[in-house]
Amino acid sequence: MKYTIAVIPGDGIGPEVTNQAKKALDAIAEYYDHIFIYKEAQMGACAIESTGVPLPKETIEICKSADAILFGAIGDPKYDNSPEAKIRPEQGLLSIRKELGLYCNIRPVKVYDKLIKNSPLKRSVIEGTDIVIYRELTGGVYFGDRSLSEDKKTAYDGCSYSVDEISKVAHLAFKEAQLRKKVVTLVDKANVLETSRLWRKTVTEIAKEYKDVELRYQYLDNAVMQLLLDPKQYDVILSANLFGDILSEEASVIGGSIGLLASTSIGEKYALFEPIHGSFPQAKGKDIANPLASILSAALLLDYLGLQEEADAIERAVEKSIVLGITTQDIKGENQYAAPTSKVGDFIADYITHQDDSNLNFRNIHMGQSTII
Ligand code: IPM
Ligand code: MN
Repeated sequence: MKYTIAVIPGDGIGPEVTNQAKKALDAIAEYYDHIFIYKEAQMGACAIESTGVPLPKETIEICKSADAILFGAIGDPKYDNSPEAKIRPEQGLLSIRKELGLYCNIRPVKVYDKLIKNSPLKRSVIEGTDIVIYRELTGGVYFGDRSLSEDKKTAYDGCSYSVDEISKVAHLAFKEAQLRKKVVTLVDKANVLETSRLWRKTVTEIAKEYKDVELRYQYLDNAVMQLLLDPKQYDVILSANLFGDILSEEASVIGGSIGLLASTSIGEKYALFEPIHGSFPQAKGKDIANPLASILSAALLLDYLGLQEEADAIERAVEKSIVLGITTQDIKGENQYAAPTSKVGDFIADYITHQDDSNLNFRNIHMGQSTII
């Protein structure tokens, strides 16, 4: 089959990790006989530099005409320390979410056995963790009115949610839970916030349509603690935009590195796939960033296109790279070689195109040290 994929490498390490995801997709195309046509587009600080805006119109057009979107990362230290800047790279990401109606962000969190020792948490606490976070993505305080008083001494960020906005993401979370362990935990701050009370009321109503799913409630302040004390209690976590952002980043500690977590952002018509990590400017161009989250985002993309077998092949290759220790510095074992970003990508691609090999010298062969099988 033939698919068009919009590719937005973005800023910082975005381009280098996205390149590895493309290698994995090219390998899939070769092995399974597909054609992927990549259409590159700009967003973020790089787009501000070349066009003056963080999200050029052309990028939106490219995304709308593609079958799916692969995105790298956004952000530049230049803007982090200038709160006065009116145009910011992150506006690009927020605008694309809004313009494409990507109201639901899905972030799976799982633990790879080999990496349990990389987590600061105990094996007994995290082993077997399997959570998926459903984060509302186009509402709440991220999209409320903002202002700064004339004397610049008071700032305001408004937060609003409608029943409709809450319902759309809640239905998706319940449907997902039906395919999993059938538990949805709604994380909110209903003891304080009016918006959270609307979330509770709305989600409680919706739960009646999913009788096989148990709905649990947790306050955010408790949840951030529970997530590290007993992550296995969760199946599907449902939360508002800002809370889901915080929870998912915290959850990356469980698996040992934020460089492992991929995400899907979906709406009625479009879907965008991205690692949850940021642009990691300190690592830019050094070939040291972990590309696995981006590669796993490509797997989620294939799954969305209905290419389940192909998505599984990428996941198996990622698992193999972890088991063999062909991984970047953030997840390498003690006294173990830290593979460059590009080598991890080469290994994954090679493993996909040579899935049927049972060569004992696998590690060397797939590191590109020999190509004769
Ligand atoms: C994320 C990021 C973004 C967010 C930033 C870059 C605007 O942290 O995708 O989680 O806060 O949503
Ligand atoms: Mn975030």
